[in-house]
Amino acid sequence: MKDIGILGLGVMGRNLALNIAHRGFGVSVYNYTPNETEEFVAKHMQGEDISAFYDVESFVKSLKSPRKIFLMIMAGKPVDNMIEVLIPLLDKGDLIIDGGNTYYFDTDRRMTYLEDKGLLYLGVGVSGGESGALNGPSLMPGGSREAYALVEDILTSMAAKTEAGPCCTYVGNGSAGHFVKMLHNGIEYGMMQSMSEVYDIMRNVLKLSADEIGDVFEKWNEGDLNSYLMEISYKIMRKKDDETGKPLVDLILDKAGQKGTGKWTAEASLDLGVPAPSLSVAVYGRVMSFFKDERQRLSELVKKEPTDAAIDKDILINDLENSLLFSNFVMYSQGIWLMNEASKVYGFDIDTAEVLKIWKGGCIIRARMLDLLIDIVKEDRSNINLLGSEKALSFLRDRLPSMRRVTMAARDHYVPALVHNTALDYIFSMIEADLPANLTQAQRDFFGAHTYSRVDKEGIFHTKWE
Ligand code: 6PG
Repeated sequence: MKDIGILGLGVMGRNLALNIAHRGFGVSVYNYTPNETEEFVAKHMQGEDISAFYDVESFVKSLKSPRKIFLMIMAGKPVDNMIEVLIPLLDKGDLIIDGGNTYYFDTDRRMTYLEDKGLLYLGVGVSGGESGALNGPSLMPGGSREAYALVEDILTSMAAKTEAGPCCTYVGNGSAGHFVKMLHNGIEYGMMQSMSEVYDIMRNVLKLSADEIGDVFEKWNEGDLNSYLMEISYKIMRKKDDETGKPLVDLILDKAGQKGTGKWTAEASLDLGVPAPSLSVAVYGRVMSFFKDERQRLSELVKKEPTDAAIDKDILINDLENSLLFSNFVMYSQGIWLMNEASKVYGFDIDTAEVLKIWKGGCIIRARMLDLLIDIVKEDRSNINLLGSEKALSFLRDRLPSMRRVTMAARDHYVPALVHNTALDYIFSMIEADLPANLTQAQRDFFGAHTYSRVDKEGIFHTKWE
């Protein structure tokens, strides 16, 4: 009898199965179509304690009770379909784990549905891509503590490890795990967008080659900007196309794909009324990239007249390093605010510092900056968006001049910098005592009698404006 079953042998499922087996657990595997299973047995299994099954019933029967089945299949309808296949084969107390990038409301729905049948369900965020799955991902499990207890030893031993411990912790109730993984991806979109903005400024304003940009990224990666995304980006900059010998990045079509997690983050921010403009605009960055033909056509119709003021390359590169730190800090803070609010509204009961800790290794947004963020969160748990901390404010204050120079340089050279601009405007809004929302309120009252409050006296007012 095996300790756990992996259902779904795409690259992630395959690597998770191997990872778990390498930690000394017995694993059963099954895939809906047999080809992947055959391939897994022939090419990937090398004497591990893994049994492969070609029918779901024998797969389920091969598992120790209470059974634990880790679904690694495409999020959405396939998960519902597979749950229906499994229900008649399972006994009360058995556990289904969904390791996909599932929409958190779906996880809540499934959890309730299965609870009624006496089955346990965990929504687990899995981050780290192919190699993370094999060598140690960051795992974000959410659901009941009872369900988590059944797999805690397996999950913590398969997870990445840092000096702070395994990159797996019980995240919280209900769909907390999938919500947090969604936020991780929202921040991932933001960090990727902010890096591509900096790259754009270096190639279009400073006219640096991909190799030269790679050198800058590598140097930054040795400092405060150290992160997984920075590491892969300098490697990307240096990669040459086999056929032409040109930097491969220069040959890649500038249309960015997306599967939905960034969009859900933006939606959650609006649903919860928490500002996350930089995370949201990163999604729009991808959306706009998709309109290649339109962009190409318009680029020929509007003449760009960049300033010809001299630019000091070293100063701008130093500013870019600071502006990236500023933007990334702001995006983490927007994500953390969203996490704290969701935790309250949805009853997730998330320990933010613990989540940041499990993002330190294995996952895509692992970055040196997380240590600072953890310090700030621990300083005062009621500081929901980090901005109440002097440490946070001095970090931002120190980088504000660079941020202003970078956004101005981008504008002066017609380089779009969506995340940088919104990060700066977000901070400008948050440090402004008097926003012009008074005019918005007056307009609302003018055309719709929506009423307004006043700064000089209590009450609700309406004016006959004409
Ligand atoms: C991770 C990644 C992973 C996946 C993204 C990509 O944490 O390992 O986030 O889950 O690569 O979902 O998402 P997009 O296709 O939307 O960029």
